[in-house]
Amino acid sequence: MTTPDPTIRQDGVTLDPDDLPEGDDKREAVRSLFDTIAPRYDLVNRIMTFGLDVRWRKQALKRLGLPAGSTVLDLACGTGDFCRESAKAGLAPIGMDLSMGMLVAARTDAPLVHGDILALPVAAGTADGATCGFALRNLVELPGFFDELARTIRPGGRVSLLDAAEPENRILRWGHGIYFGKIVPRIGGLFSDRTAYDYLPKSLAYMPPWSELRSRIEAAGFSDVERKVFVGAHLITATRGG
Ligand SMILES: C[S@@+](CC[C@H](N)C(=O)[O-])C[C@H]1O[C@@H](n2cnc3c(N)ncnc32)[C@H](O)[C@@H]1O
Repeated sequence: MTTPDPTIRQDGVTLDPDDLPEGDDKREAVRSLFDTIAPRYDLVNRIMTFGLDVRWRKQALKRLGLPAGSTVLDLACGTGDFCRESAKAGLAPIGMDLSMGMLVAARTDAPLVHGDILALPVAAGTADGATCGFALRNLVELPGFFDELARTIRPGGRVSLLDAAEPENRILRWGHGIYFGKIVPRIGGLFSDRTAYDYLPKSLAYMPPWSELRSRIEAAGFSDVERKVFVGAHLITATRGG
């Protein structure tokens, strides 16, 4: 009997967690991965973050600081967690995601758009703000994304970008490495897809250091760039200049 090759996904798209893809291969692998894990995405998320992801999104909206009625793009909205929280806060969210599987599994009344957030179908300067949860490391490129944010958000508008991150403290980083690198893939394998949850922790390697991230956001035209660090995640907020 032969052991199945863990890098071959059912729909034929190859994803090898030890060889992180780039460019179109990355976009296709990411889309396919989220289509696969969509049905149990929320369940695994709540288990692996002990429900903290819900609190982090609330913090992200508080720090967005926009008044009720503001139009907020939820970029890479997935199953709509940010859209739901935004609506509860009186904002007017619009979600967009690359994975049709995630959009089908979404539980939100917000309008949802299928597409790539690196090319937003939104007129220049028309959004009051944007949220983006746990998606930066999945993008094919970050400078192009920050440019799209700067193009679509009005001057004075705000962005809240929440993502997984390694803790800065050495001991916490060690514990986080074991949890995220060894335990999360097992939880994922138990409830969903092992290959996907092997890949997700490793995809942290795509992220540049904070100093570089900050410079890129500023270079795109944002000011007041701030970062709040949680254990296992960080929240970046900024204001569109101009
Ligand atoms: C980890 S999930 C996060 C979902 C949701 N934002 C949340 O907070 O739970 C990452 C999402 O990013 C989406 N995504 C990745 N690359 C994308 C792109 N280029 N354009 C749109 N969505 C993208 C995936 O399809 C997936 O739904």
